[in-house]
Amino acid sequence: MHHSIVYISTPTFAPSQAAGMVRAIVGHAQRRNADRGVTGTLIATEHHFAQVIEGRRDATQPLMENILLDPRHCDVTIVQHQIDAGRRFREWSLAYHGNSAYFEGFIRALLPGREQRRGDVERLVDLMTRLAQPQPRRPVRDDRP
Ligand SMILES: Cc1cc2nc3c(=O)[nH]c(=O)nc-3n(C[C@H](O)[C@H](O)[C@H](O)COP(=O)(O)O)c2cc1C
Repeated sequence: MHHSIVYISTPTFAPSQAAGMVRAIVGHAQRRNADRGVTGTLIATEHHFAQVIEGRRDATQPLMENILLDPRHCDVTIVQHQIDAGRRFREWSLAYHGNSAYFEGFIRALLPGREQRRGDVERLVDLMTRLAQPQPRRPVRDDRP
């Protein structure tokens, strides 16, 4: 049975270190996730992470335990845990598209202590899923003879 876990967290490193830190996290995670049959996506804004990890429980559970203890972020809050939901990121060991400031408001809505509205988690996950879809190819217009 597949598990799908969505969490948000707060980086502990300074913004000036973010590029190198995130590059290291993503590089390591892409290799390790591929080895373990884990798929997912990572969103990084200046102030938060949001991540989806999906795979068999014997892979996602120890990974989630590592992630919870990782000192590079804090306030790890699981906002969705689905069992047998199918994979949304089947093509990606870990999709990553660079700093995604646009997500900040969607993540903030889910911070502990905020009054949550129905659909807030689904809105975030839907955006994460759409960002990871391959872009439709547009025909190249070439007017040259
Ligand atoms: C925001 C964040 C996301 C992470 N995502 C993953 C991930 O998807 N896969 C992974 O193997 N490690 C990820 N890590 C790193 C783990 O916390 C941990 O360092 C890693 O699993 C170490 O285990 P390993 O040496 O057995 O790979 C992440 C860390 C952070 C801070």
